[in-house]
Amino acid sequence: MTDLPIYPLTHEHKMLRDTARDFAQKEIVPIAAEFDESGEFPHATIKKMGEMGFMGIEVPEQYGGAGMDALAYTLALEEICKADAAHGVIMSVNNSLYCHGILNFGTEEQKHKFVTPIASGKAIGGYSLTEPQGGSDAGAIKSRATRDGGFYVLNGRKSWVTSGPVADYFIVFMVTDPDKKQKGISAFLVDGKTKGLTRGKKEPKLGIRASATSELIFEDCRVPVENRLAMEGEGFKIAMTMLDAGRIGIATQALGIAEAAYEAARLHAGQREAFGQPIGAFQGTGFKIADMKTRIEASRLLTYNAALAKEKAKESGKRYSLEASMAKLFASETAMYVTHQAIQIHGGMGYSRELPLERYFRDAKITEIYEGTSEIQRLVISRSELGIK
Ligand code: CAA
Repeated sequence: MTDLPIYPLTHEHKMLRDTARDFAQKEIVPIAAEFDESGEFPHATIKKMGEMGFMGIEVPEQYGGAGMDALAYTLALEEICKADAAHGVIMSVNNSLYCHGILNFGTEEQKHKFVTPIASGKAIGGYSLTEPQGGSDAGAIKSRATRDGGFYVLNGRKSWVTSGPVADYFIVFMVTDPDKKQKGISAFLVDGKTKGLTRGKKEPKLGIRASATSELIFEDCRVPVENRLAMEGEGFKIAMTMLDAGRIGIATQALGIAEAAYEAARLHAGQREAFGQPIGAFQGTGFKIADMKTRIEASRLLTYNAALAKEKAKESGKRYSLEASMAKLFASETAMYVTHQAIQIHGGMGYSRELPLERYFRDAKITEIYEGTSEIQRLVISRSELGIK
């Protein structure tokens, strides 16, 4: 990557980035294709990532984390995603959806109980908002949490939960007051072993196949009142705030995928000869390289900028929805463009499963879909610009 001078990377940033790069290239790259093929969850490498502190980079040390900043997290995640986007999304959900949300809205007890095991790499966290009838329209969820003395009784079906089959703890969003629409949604912290919670069908996915995704089924699942995150009715805002952080993680994932595909294409364009010269010397290929590089660097600027906005928000409390959505929108569309062109530059070999290009292409697609589709990002950006609710 280019060490852009406008981003003042500290010694700690560079150390973390280099450590993540070294680990990812040595330990993840050699196994990525095998786990993609089998669709098995990479327990061993995820455990090592936890031991290295990658699962709670921004979490203060008192809750088991590394106590670093948002840019540090982005730099480390980018390196993991260059090696394998499936490992990347597991890391992203742990850091930016799960830990970030509890740190922002949880009580001291909740932080100790639910953040420490995840941030220290001993357990895995999940975020459960989507339902079969409520994806983009997150306010339309129907699953119910009904108060019963010192408990809430949870009922409903959740879908597309990253790490659903393997996570130890979940943040779950449910309706506590159906008359109030978004303002009737509340958030709960649920231990995966709670009676009444079962893991549903595991999704057979196009890409990020080593990350496990499933439904969660709640049938009279009793959760103590002290596991409610913030007040009743605050769930929708919590979900949206978490997604602002999550979208920077997905922008970073897209950036990492694009960089990996680009590097392969750049080398190939310089080495492969046709008609007596490297194919990169033909304008049709050279201009592709120029466009890929430019879009990647623009994605990087938007993504690092969003990370810096997130870091500033820790003091100011200011929303960074616009920065996060612009980064995710541009970086995910760049990842699709770059992986597409990288296959084209490789010709038949790009289409072969012997090279990782086709995996990058399949993995890139999800970045335009989850944590808010490109259409939802455009909605967030245009509403923000036009001041329309
Ligand atoms: N931060 C704080 N508050 C926010 C907010 C944010 N980012 N976005 C909205 N709100 C607040 C609004 O200010 C408003 O509050 P008031 O009524 O007090 O003014 C309230 O929430 C309702 O906002 P909207 O009217 O804008 O809500 P909406 O129903 O129009 O929805 C939306 C807005 C942006 C479309 C939202 O529904 C959305 O983001 N949809 C996509 C959901 C999504 O990304 N799902 C992915 C789930 S996770 C996943 O993919 C799987 C995984 O495990 C990785």
